[in-house]
Amino acid sequence: MIRVKKGTDSRILGVGGYQPSRIVPNSEIVDRIDSTDEWIRQRTGIEERRFAATDETILDMAEAACRQALERANISINEIDTVIVATITYPYQAPSAATALIARLGNPKAAAFDINAACAGFCYGVGMASDFIRSGTSRHVLVVGVEKLSDFTDPQDRATAFIFADGAGAVVIGPSDYPGIGPTVWGSDADSRDAILMEPSWNELREENSLERWPNISQQGQAVFRWAVFSMSKAGLRAIEAAGITPADLAAFIPHQANVRIIESMAREIGIPDSVVIAKDIRTSGNTSAASVPLAMSALLKDRPDLHGGLALLIGYGAGLVFAGQVVELPPKPSSPPTK
Ligand code: UT7
Repeated sequence: MIRVKKGTDSRILGVGGYQPSRIVPNSEIVDRIDSTDEWIRQRTGIEERRFAATDETILDMAEAACRQALERANISINEIDTVIVATITYPYQAPSAATALIARLGNPKAAAFDINAACAGFCYGVGMASDFIRSGTSRHVLVVGVEKLSDFTDPQDRATAFIFADGAGAVVIGPSDYPGIGPTVWGSDADSRDAILMEPSWNELREENSLERWPNISQQGQAVFRWAVFSMSKAGLRAIEAAGITPADLAAFIPHQANVRIIESMAREIGIPDSVVIAKDIRTSGNTSAASVPLAMSALLKDRPDLHGGLALLIGYGAGLVFAGQVVELPPKPSSPPTK
C-alpha cells in the first residue's frame, strides 16, 4: 500500500478578469453580415463585445487576468504549483500557453498544461484543480480561461461574426478547511461533435498549400441552442444535487455566456429562484468561450460585492459537445476593490 497524506478541501481564493480596451458595438458588425443591432440584441442579448488589438496576444490577456486573481487572492506566484490554461485559440500546438504564461508570471517551475474543452474548458479546469488539491497533488492552482476568438472567426459569417469575442478570466484555487467546491458534473455528447467546428484542419491547409484560408469557428446554432437548454439544465440540477444543496441555497448562477435566451431558459428549467442573481455578462462581453465564466464571475462581483462568499452554480458547455458544471463558493472579498 502507498502511504499518502491526503490533501485538503478546496475553494476559490480570488478571481481576475481582463478585457481588451477596444469596444465593438453591434453597429460595427451588422453591415458585413446583413443583420441589425435589434436582431442581435433580441436573439442573443449582445450589445457590444471586446476585440483584442492585432498585437495583443493570448498570453498578454491571460497574464493580466492572472495577476489580478493572484492579487485579489493575496497569493504570491511562487505559491502556485500548478497552472491550467483552457483555450482553443492559442496559435501554437507546442509548447503550451501554460508554460509560456508561468514563465512570464515568474515561476517557471510550476506544473503547467493546456486543456481543450472549448467553452467548457474553465469549468473542466476548476474540477481538475479542486481534485488535485483534495488528493494532495497540488496546493495552489491557477485556472485560466482565455480566448482571442476574433482571430478564428470569419467576420463575414452571418452565423458567428456577431457572437464571439476576446478576453481572459482566472481563478486561484487553494486549500480550505471546508468544501468550497462541489463535485464536478461533466460529460459529452460526442456524437454531436460536428455541431461546433473549427476548420479547416492544419492538414487540409497543408494539402491546399493555402495562406489565404485560416481555421474558423462554425456552428449549427439551433441544434446547440436546443441541446444547451435541454441537457445543460439537467447537468446544472445534477451539480446542485451533488453539492448537497437546493437552488434556493444559491446566491448566483454563472453559466457560460452564449446567449441570454439560453441563460434565462436554463434558469427556468433548473428552478433558479428570483433571489438568485443571474450573470448576463454576455451583454457587454459577447461569447468569450473558455473565458466567459470567470469573466462573468469577476464582473458580477464588481457589481454585486455582497455576493462574495456566496454559493454559485457554474456551468460551461461547447464544442465537442462537452460540458462541466459545479457549485462553488465565490471568493472572499479582496482587501482592494475589484476593477473588473
Ligand atoms: O459557445 C458555444 C455554444 N454555442 C451556443 O450556445 C449557440 C447557441 N445558438 C444560438 O445562440 C442561436 O442559435 C444563434 C444566436 C446562433 C442564432 O439565433 P436563432 O434564433 O437560432 O436564429 P436562426 O438561425 O433560427 O435564424 C432565425 C432567423 C432566420 O430568418 P427566417 O428564416 O426566420 O426569415 C435567419 O435567416 O434569423 C435570420 N438570421 C439572421 N438575421 C439577422 C440568422 N442569422 C442572422 C443574423 N442577422 N446574423
